[in-house]
Amino acid sequence: MQVSGTLTELLRSDCATVVLTGAGISAESGVPTFRGKDGLWNKFDPRELATFSAFMRNPKLVWEWYLFRRELISKVEPNPGHFTLAEMGEHLSQLHIVTQNVDNLHQRAGSTNVIELHGNIERNKCVECNAPMAEFEIDPDNLPTCQCGGRIRPDVVWFGEMLPEAAIETAQQEAAACKLFFSVGTSAEVYPAADLPMIAKKNGAYLVEVNPHATPLTPYADEVFAAPSGEAMPLIWHAVREQSS
Ligand code: OAD
Repeated sequence: MQVSGTLTELLRSDCATVVLTGAGISAESGVPTFRGKDGLWNKFDPRELATFSAFMRNPKLVWEWYLFRRELISKVEPNPGHFTLAEMGEHLSQLHIVTQNVDNLHQRAGSTNVIELHGNIERNKCVECNAPMAEFEIDPDNLPTCQCGGRIRPDVVWFGEMLPEAAIETAQQEAAACKLFFSVGTSAEVYPAADLPMIAKKNGAYLVEVNPHATPLTPYADEVFAAPSGEAMPLIWHAVREQSS
């Protein structure tokens, strides 16, 4: 794997940089992705588990699914892909991480500047008034309700739902303004997140993709690392640090 001089120069110049991440960056931590052979949506039906109507129909089933994923995520650790991005954030003054992941692993690795497009599996909120509810232990046989009487749900974005307005607006603005855009570990198939790399590209950013498999974005990328992010991200950052020392 070669890192181009263009990419190392851009990173050394501390230019405005956006990193869009998806489930692939957490794959090496042991969190399953959604699509592909072993993807979650190959084994489970998202219409039964990840829509508002499914939740209202069968909140116990949906909660059991999210409690299962919560437990899985609580047992795994961030990997070198997450840690490299956290380290980059300490050195680059204009780095924005925009994640589709709900697993909190960027934050656990030490990243502070994270825009969450699809919520966070560790949080809960009321379906009626949107008030957050801190309780982490949820009993699927005795589901909690809000003070207003509304049901408590996981604070994640389900199919057919709008993304948190402030998060997607900020992400779109940063994508339009950046000079360097990384798409890391995402199939680039789910909108509006999948628009972000193209917004950046249309506004003149240098587009880098990190993914062992080709995606609809690959033909538009200026540089492609067809490798796991836990290998490619440390390699890229090492190339930058080596030149700086
Ligand atoms: P996907 O499961 O669609 O795609 C994961 C991508 O990661 C694939 O392109 C894989 O090739 C790639 N990948 C696998 N292992 C990797 C590794 N070690 N390093 C780098 N890349 C790797 O996941 P997302 O693109 O995140 O939404 O999916 C987007 C959204 O669809 C999710 O946020 C979720 C899902 O339905 C909601 O739940 C709203």
